[in-house]
Amino acid sequence: MVEILPSLLAADFARLGEEIARVEQAGVSMLHVDVMDGHFVPNLTMGPPVVKSLRKITKAHLDVHLMITDADRFAPVFIEAGADSVSVHQEACPHLDRTLRLIQAEGALAGVVLNPATPVATLDEVLDFVDFVLIMSVNPGFGGQRFLPGSLRKIEQLVERRTRQGLGFKIEIDGGVVVENAAAIARAGAEWLVAGSSVFGASDSGAAVRSLRQAASVGSLV
Ligand code: DX5
Ligand code: ZN
Repeated sequence: MVEILPSLLAADFARLGEEIARVEQAGVSMLHVDVMDGHFVPNLTMGPPVVKSLRKITKAHLDVHLMITDADRFAPVFIEAGADSVSVHQEACPHLDRTLRLIQAEGALAGVVLNPATPVATLDEVLDFVDFVLIMSVNPGFGGQRFLPGSLRKIEQLVERRTRQGLGFKIEIDGGVVVENAAAIARAGAEWLVAGSSVFGASDSGAAVRSLRQAASVGSLV
């Protein structure tokens, strides 16, 4: 079962409520929130007050992607604000095991993110307890970039480990997801597809969600 997670980074920040209502009408039940600190990545976005406001206007699962250096400090703040899942970068967390367990102890699903140049093997010691793994298919920091095809191989490597070890983590993909590659992504084995510009950059964001879901469901069957 594939979920499309619209990334609010590509939405109109002055009309977030309307943008969310439109994709929810198209059946969206999970939203992706990109948090950047201008330090781990060269861009600044939103903080806990935005998540707190979103929590009041939607029942959707809020998936908070932390692209920040101090995840231990801020993950609990985002969970308090209403995040249902929080993902942290392998590259930003020297005490990755502790950070992921902290997120779970605070009551959210814990995810670990890999940049394009970071191998799947770096996750071998945490795969048995993480709730999800997020494969970046662009270098993080900005929406609207092109999908890096090497990400498909990383999804397959994760599926192979998951099957071999009998694990249950979900696989999420983020960056450059468009209707043309959604089938290949789903076929490789990803379940959560983040899509920013291909949803909110479209003239009809609801129709864009439906097209992505349709393309991905075809891929997941073959
Ligand atoms: C990039 C962010 C992505 C981004 C995806 O650093 O993590 O979530 O918003 O946007 P698109 O779908 O436009 O690549
Ligand atoms: Zn993201």
